[in-house]
Amino acid sequence: MRKLIAILGIGSVIFSACQMNTSKNITEKTEVEKGYKVYKNVCSACHWEKVSPEQIKNIRKTVMSGGRPPFNAPPMSEVSARVKKFYPTEEKFVAFVKDYITNPSREKGVCMPMAFKIFGVMPPIGKNMKEEDKEAVAKWLYHNFHMTWEEFMRKNPH
Ligand code: HEC
Repeated sequence: MRKLIAILGIGSVIFSACQMNTSKNITEKTEVEKGYKVYKNVCSACHWEKVSPEQIKNIRKTVMSGGRPPFNAPPMSEVSARVKKFYPTEEKFVAFVKDYITNPSREKGVCMPMAFKIFGVMPPIGKNMKEEDKEAVAKWLYHNFHMTWEEFMRKNPH
């Protein structure tokens, strides 16, 4: 009997741990989806979501011959990989993004020097955003892309 209670006890601990895990994942999923909406509404005016190596090649040619890229900021796939190089954990990454979009500066920025040269420093658009929207978009930026900076540059040399 004691053994049975012990087994049931262990079982319920495992069961509730799993439940906790699932509900955390569901909350996180909802937040990432919300973050994508924020991206669409606020950030996509300047940042494309991603670029293909082919597009990068063409854009590079345009820039080399004195033209402007077809967007006003580096694509988010690149921004995500770049910021992760300097702020690898989710906690540090999210804190950096929330602060940067609210109080951007050349000193704080970790983008390639070329990005600052072409686009200038990002405007502080986070000043007009709700805290929860900043949190959601930062989490989306962290979770939606999976390449390291080195992988990104290997695939998209520029
Ligand atoms: C008006 C254009 C514009 C909008 C809108 C915009 N950005 Fe940017 N963003 C830029 C430019 C330009 C850069 C590159 C220069 C820099 O890093 O400041 C940049 C760079 C960044 C960086 C990299 C910062 C670094 O380390 O250098 C992050 C992160 C970022 N943007 C997040 C966002 C998010 C999230 C949104 C939407 C909530 C957003 N941006 C909306 C123009 C914009």
